Parts: sequence; structure tokens; C-alpha cells
Amino acid sequence: MEKLVIEGGKPLHGRVKISGAKNAALPLIAASLLAPGIHVLHNVPDLRDTRTILTLLESLGLSWERDGSTLRIDGSGLKYSEASYDLVKTMRASVLVLGPLLARLGKAKVSLPGGCAIGARPINFHLKGLEQMGVQCDLEQGYVDASIAGRLQGGRIYFDVPSVGGTENLLMAAALAEGLTIIKNAAREPEIGNLIDMLNSMGAKIKGKDSDRLEIMGVEKLTAAENRIIPDRIEAGTYAIAVAAAGGDAIIEDCEPHHLPSLVEKLQMAGIDVEIGDTFLRIRSKGIQQPIKAVDVTTMPYPGYPTDLQAQFMALMTCSEGVCVVHETIFENRFMHVAELQRMGASIQIDGRTAMVKGLVGKTLTGAPVMATDLRASSSLVIAGLVANGRTDISRIYHLERGYEDIVGKLSGLGAVVWKENE
Ligand code: EPZ
Repeated sequence: MEKLVIEGGKPLHGRVKISGAKNAALPLIAASLLAPGIHVLHNVPDLRDTRTILTLLESLGLSWERDGSTLRIDGSGLKYSEASYDLVKTMRASVLVLGPLLARLGKAKVSLPGGCAIGARPINFHLKGLEQMGVQCDLEQGYVDASIAGRLQGGRIYFDVPSVGGTENLLMAAALAEGLTIIKNAAREPEIGNLIDMLNSMGAKIKGKDSDRLEIMGVEKLTAAENRIIPDRIEAGTYAIAVAAAGGDAIIEDCEPHHLPSLVEKLQMAGIDVEIGDTFLRIRSKGIQQPIKAVDVTTMPYPGYPTDLQAQFMALMTCSEGVCVVHETIFENRFMHVAELQRMGASIQIDGRTAMVKGLVGKTLTGAPVMATDLRASSSLVIAGLVANGRTDISRIYHLERGYEDIVGKLSGLGAVVWKENE
């Protein structure tokens, strides 16, 4: 296994280009199951997770080819309907094939994703919505065995909690259902808007984009189309926080600043200079010399503060001048980065889903060997390593490679001293 090594304490300068969004690429790749023909997707990041879902689509009979950041997926070859445990266990977003397989074939056997480091990650909302569309879902031996005779039926679906994956699965199922489907309390993340745009470009009839009430009038068939993945707001936010913490002056380009309203506000409240362009963010900071103000944060569904940027913001707050409270409302176990940050000298106390962070006023973190536990926790350790005095070795960086394209190249381009080594 490889580790990432960072010599910290250096400010970041220059420009970094943001890749396409992992959490848009995964559902949009899954949507290619809905229609035969060649689906063209531009700005697709080359990540462990996108490679995993493409392997899953191959196992279902589809073929694909990549030309730089453009993917061409042939939806014509679909002939199997089983997503195996060994694929789904490596990436729970594989469950996103459930809706399209049922819509196209009327059956799907998908391994239950199981939990992950950050939580149990159930899919009960997905299954309840499908059942309301007439699907029979049987759970046996760790698999969901779902089927329906004939077409899915449009239904009235209400989410107790706005589920991103649940909304995406049911949007894809409803696109080919008979009649009208209404989804209430739908998730509103920009990645869902990207999926809606793709489905509508394929002939779907979906209204309510960016709202929590979606109306889908099912159609008989869809046709392959050409689409573009939106920029990765979580990658952009990660680099913005990294510059804020390490100090420097950097331009984060090819991003969508208006997809990060709550992060921009929090950084400005922390005293960071944030310039907002049409497709870029410019971050200027003196790092711990700033000094960085302590700012409370509570994670919420979009457009609230993203849970996927909680660990990264906490790394920034360890270097602030005061005490702040970080409240994680989305997942039950998303503080795996805390113990590792404490190894670097951070002062953090956890009480359930709340963490109290006491800033190291005037001092900074110290480099140490630490371990990545999940995707965003590992990016939090990268930020801590960039700030810390001395060397930080981050092990198990396969977590990081799931969601950050060319992170060594991008950080080096900003002047960071970072490299990979075999553990
Ligand atoms: C998506 O996960 C993202 N993944 C996650 O990003 C992100 O953290 C999450 O949305 C929240 O924004 C992808 O898009 C591939 P949810 P998802 O369904 O769809 C509970 C990353 O780091 N829930 O919105 O799985 C669930 O347990 C990843 O890139 C149910 O109880 O999240 C959680 O507490 C991590 N039953 C809450 O709802 C269900 O059927 C929100 O989950 C579904 C969800």
C-alpha cells in the first residue's frame, strides 16, 4: 500500500484546476443503463470510484471507452441485472444501478451496500420509494432482489430525510415509469440537478430541478445523449480550506463558486479573504498568522454546510484563535479524523455528534504518522499535514484516491512539498 508524505509549513500559491464532480459522475454513469446507444459524458474525473462503477456496468453487459475526460458508454449491451457484493462492498454508490435496472429490465439483484466508516448507510428510503412504484423488493442473503411484472408505476414519494442517493435512484426509475411520480422532500444537491439535466436531454420529462419537489412524467423510452459533469464542489472546497489553513494566495479555477454558498460564508467569517469569480475562487490567507477566527459549523442538506466538507473545516479550526463547535447532523460516525488530528496536537473533544475544537492560538500542528479512515477524513489529514511543522505520513491513501484526482500533482502545483511512497 502507498502513503502520502507531506513536508508542512509552506504557504500555497498559484492555480489549481478542479475536476468533474465524483458525486455527479457516479449517478450520470449509472443513468447510461436507461437507454441503448452511445452516451457521451464530458469532464468525467478519473478516480477509483468512477473506475469501480464502470467495472460494474461492464459486468452488466455495457461497454465504454475513455478519451481524456470524455467517456463514451454504449448502453446497448445491457443483458445482466446482478450487481455483486464484491463490487458493491467497495463502493456503496453502486446501489445507484437499482433504479435504472428496474426501469430498463424490470428486475435487479443488487448487494446491500453495507456500512462504511462513517455510518450504517441504509437504503430503506430507496426501497420504500421503489415499492411505492410497484416493485417487489425481497432482502435475502445480503442482496436486494427486486422485480416488477411490466412497467414501474408512477407514485407519490415522500422522503423523511432528503436522501441524495434515494432521490437519484427514484428519479432514474420514474423517468421510464407509467404516469406521474412526485417526490417530496427531495435532496437538492447540484449533482441531482446535473442528473435531471442529463435525463431530460435523453427525453425524460422532469420538473422542479433544484427544488425539494420533483415531478416526473414517465415516458416509454429514452435515447442516449451528450452531457457534461459539473465541477466537484467538494474538491474545490477542500482546496479552498487548504489555502486558508496553510496560508498563501491561490486561484481555484474551473469550479462553480455558487455551489459553495455556505463554505464561502464560513471562510469569510473566519477572516479569510475570498474573491468569487464566475468560474473561480481566489483565496488569500496568512494561515495561522492571520489569525484565523473560530467559527461554529453544523452540517445540513444542501444548501446548508456540506457534511463532505466537515472534516476539512475542522482541520482549519484546529489552528484558529478560539473555540468552536462542529455539529455533524447527517452521518452518525463522521469524526474518524479527530483521533488522527489529535495525534498532530489538535485539541478536540467529542460528545456524540458534536465536537468542540480548541484552536492552537499562535502555535501550529506538528507532523506525525497518521492513518486515513475514509475519503473526507483523509483530505482533512492532508490539510493538517500542509499546515503542520515537520513531516506527516498519511497511510491507506486509497481512501483519498477514491475522490481526489491527481492530488499530488495539484498540491505540488500550488507549491506544496508532497509525494507518495510505498508503505
Ligand atoms: C451522498 O451519499 C454522497 N455520495 C455522500 O458523499 C454525501 O456525504 C451524502 O450524499 C450526503 O450529502 C454520493 O453522492 C456518491 P444520503 P448518500 O442518502 O446518497 C440516511 C463522499 O464523501 N439514509 O443523502 O448515501 C443516511 O444514512 C460521500 O463523497 C437513510 O437512513 O447519502 C444519512 O444519514 C460520503 N436511508 C442521510 O440519510 C436511506 O435509504 C443522508 O444520506 C438513505 C439515506
